[in-house]
Amino acid sequence: KVKIATIGGGSSYTPELMEGFIKRYAELPIGEIWLVDVKAGAEKQAIVGQMAQRMWDATPYDVQIHTTLNREEALKDADFVTTQFRVGQLDARVKDERIPFSYGLLGQETNGAGGMFKAFRTIPVILEIVEDMKRLCPDAWLINFTNPSGMVTEAVLRYGQWEKVIGLCNVPVVAKMGEAETLGVPQADLIYKFAGVNHFHWHQVADKKGRDLTPQLIDKLYEESSGLPKNIFDVPFYKEQLQQMNMIPCGYHRYYYRFEEMLNHGLKEYATVGTRAQQVKAIEHELFELYKDPHLDYKPKQLEQRGGAYYSDAACETIASIYANKNTEIVVSTRNNGAVLDLPADCAVEVTAYVGGAGARNVAFGPLPTAERGWLQMMKSMELLTIEAAITGDYGTALQAFISNPLVPSGETATRVMHELLIAHKAYLPQF
Ligand code: NAD
Ligand code: G6P
Ligand code: MN
Repeated sequence: KVKIATIGGGSSYTPELMEGFIKRYAELPIGEIWLVDVKAGAEKQAIVGQMAQRMWDATPYDVQIHTTLNREEALKDADFVTTQFRVGQLDARVKDERIPFSYGLLGQETNGAGGMFKAFRTIPVILEIVEDMKRLCPDAWLINFTNPSGMVTEAVLRYGQWEKVIGLCNVPVVAKMGEAETLGVPQADLIYKFAGVNHFHWHQVADKKGRDLTPQLIDKLYEESSGLPKNIFDVPFYKEQLQQMNMIPCGYHRYYYRFEEMLNHGLKEYATVGTRAQQVKAIEHELFELYKDPHLDYKPKQLEQRGGAYYSDAACETIASIYANKNTEIVVSTRNNGAVLDLPADCAVEVTAYVGGAGARNVAFGPLPTAERGWLQMMKSMELLTIEAAITGDYGTALQAFISNPLVPSGETATRVMHELLIAHKAYLPQF
């Protein structure tokens, strides 16, 4: 039977993951699931561990949930390792978002200054996990959900020298769901093609006869937007811009294509309801009160308030597809291998792929339009610099990453933000 180890097991998303595994038990016969956390997350881990066990106990399947603070015992002989951890917990995210906003810059979990600092904290830990996997479960697949998901995947491939990794995000899942509804067509009848990097990709959609439905979808999305995760404020794109590129940008492109409006909205929220991290704390509190109920044995509806809703549709389907060699079409972060012509072959990209026993086989996208090629190459350079800084702790490299990030206006303000973040996160940045 299959052994799963989940790093960051105390996450409020764990019931989502359980639901996905329960749905797929017939093709993915799991025997045990190990939820790993650290001391700071032990309380959440205990609550969600019991909740997860109740979910399985309500099924005919005999699956054992183990909670542990000892990563090694969880990784030992695991078949799949899933990661959903947050170094420094939500308090660190509050700082990632609050400090840039307090200087008039965007504060966001995966974009701009906050996203780079999340990478600085997370990449050393993921590389430790990879080293553990080499010793304890050398045949396992690493299924990463931890943000910044694309950069984490890139670090595992490039510096961890670990090929059996797939990075995931729910943005493509939510987009496909919402857009099928908008088009009034079952999802199975649509053929999608995604290309870019995590939280910075575009897609096109066709019907089964190969007819391009992208122009029609652009029109309809302009009437009524759909497919956007809960955490992203909906400023509409410029329709003529989308028509010019004939692609649908991902939700996060708003931060780049409508920089001014997104920043102003963020600053307004910061001054009134607070950062997204603070809002998430409130949602999480409500969720854990529900999880404590000894009668609750299913994923509560309230989890849909989180931006990462439906993540199990990607994670559990990826695992089942590898295990049963299903060759399912899934959007994943993986090594490019030529699928995105405008980026190096050896870097990580987020693309449509067929996922089976040998991992992801990417669907080629072809060349990007002029503007998007430029954006994407700049974003990938920024990612590579961020990852290098995360590993070396080199100040100049971190500064280069900051200066090349389109959401960080260069100069004294940005440098001060970087210094303040370095100090605020000192405990989680031993490399600097
Ligand atoms: P969370 O704050 O609940 O953190 C999850 C758990 O990780 C916590 O219990 C925490 O104690 C634990 N943790 C921290 N450091 C750890 C370590 N070194 N080893 C093991 N466990 C550790 O976070 P969350 O809101 O549930 O999100 C979890 C992660 O998933 C975050 O990185 C978040 O950005 C990411 N996420 C990704 C997507 C996506 O689309 N890829 C969507 C939503 C969330
Ligand atoms: C989704 C993204 C994640 C993101 C998260 C935030 O949009 O795919 O990568 O970071 O939601 O959700 P939250 O509810 O934590 O703000
Ligand atoms: Mn994501």
